[in-house]
Amino acid sequence: MKLLLVCLGNICRSPMAEGALRLRLDAAGLDWVRTDSAGTGGWHAGEAPDRRAVACARGHGADISALRARQLRVADFHDFDWLLCADARNLRDLRATAPAGLEGKARLLLDWSGVAAGGEVPDPYYGGHDDFERVWRLVDAAAQAVVDRICARSASSA
Ligand code: 4NP
Repeated sequence: MKLLLVCLGNICRSPMAEGALRLRLDAAGLDWVRTDSAGTGGWHAGEAPDRRAVACARGHGADISALRARQLRVADFHDFDWLLCADARNLRDLRATAPAGLEGKARLLLDWSGVAAGGEVPDPYYGGHDDFERVWRLVDAAAQAVVDRICARSASSA
């Protein structure tokens, strides 16, 4: 399984989501699940995550400092099983660029994981410490839900 986390800049929410997911996947022994992240925008391509995102993740046990931002490419729709977005704008942008027939791979992270129907992870870029902590709570809840779901599915097909 290959999961791509997507936000606007790929320096705050999606690298935090990738960090939370990687931490929980590895703790559950699900190292065969592949993760990556990308931004719908390319302004920050090549950059490390925002230092506030790095600090927040580190406070929760995840080191995301080595991640580098990149812009979403059309090939991602072929390479990944699911493209999980932070908010409705990301989802709209993704569906607009999806190859015909693959639009359904783009979903909201909180919705797809079962955390909140139609739920969004708000952009913390112009916010402060509490906004980043809120992002972590949301993406980590999604990460836990994704791991539970994969474990339940593996158990039922065993
Ligand atoms: P992200 O946050 O989408 O969670 O990575 C943002 C980062 C940068 C910008 C916007 C949102 N920006 O406008 O540069």
